[in-house]
Amino acid sequence: MDVAFTIRRYQPEVREDPYYETFKFEAEPTDRVLDGLNHIKWHMDGTLALRRSCQHGICGSDAMRINGKNGLACKTLLQDVGAEVTIEPLMGFPVLKDLIVDVDPFFEQFKKVKAYLINDGPEPDRERLQSPEEAARYGDTSKCIMCGACTGSCPSFWPGSGFIGPAAVVQAHRFMFDSRDEGNEERAAALDGRDGVWACRTVFNCTKACPVGIQVTRAIGEVKRALTWDGS
Ligand code: F3S
Ligand code: FES
Repeated sequence: MDVAFTIRRYQPEVREDPYYETFKFEAEPTDRVLDGLNHIKWHMDGTLALRRSCQHGICGSDAMRINGKNGLACKTLLQDVGAEVTIEPLMGFPVLKDLIVDVDPFFEQFKKVKAYLINDGPEPDRERLQSPEEAARYGDTSKCIMCGACTGSCPSFWPGSGFIGPAAVVQAHRFMFDSRDEGNEERAAALDGRDGVWACRTVFNCTKACPVGIQVTRAIGEVKRALTWDGS
């Protein structure tokens, strides 16, 4: 099939303003958007800048806007998006070059919500055991690959809001509902404020954008309820 990729370019070393550029080439319907981007980079314009690594939906590095919807380029087939594809960087993230956004502020939010296991109790002789039911409590949010597709889709996160974003809440959820964790009071400082979960307006874009199918809005709701009811 003949395809046309229109890509939002930003090359600050040669031009101050962003612009759109279209690349036309032949591809298979079963090719992924990432295959097309690689084709452009390897055969048409080596200056095209994008992140990708695993190419199999695991590392989360190639989240971008594809025809106006956030997704992973390596998991999006051309037959599902059509022959004319518009590709842009994630919204709400500072753009460094072409499709590469600055993810440092994004990962800073993970530190704020202390997205790691907190348990200052005495160390057990063996690992801290957990039943399958207890593990299932946070099973959905443990699937997060930290790609930023949810956060970049959220109107509450877009410029200037200060909202920590849905991905940070998902990460907090993964530990808040872990039976081995005791850090929820510490997490509440970042979650229970104007820039925390209460900035979420239940828009649901995040749930639609998640490439691994996490029920993001539901997880945010569970965190809201936990903060409201008993702070745990
Ligand atoms: Fe944003 Fe998702 Fe809430 S899109 S407003 S975080 S439900
Ligand atoms: Fe790793 Fe797409 S390149 S998720």
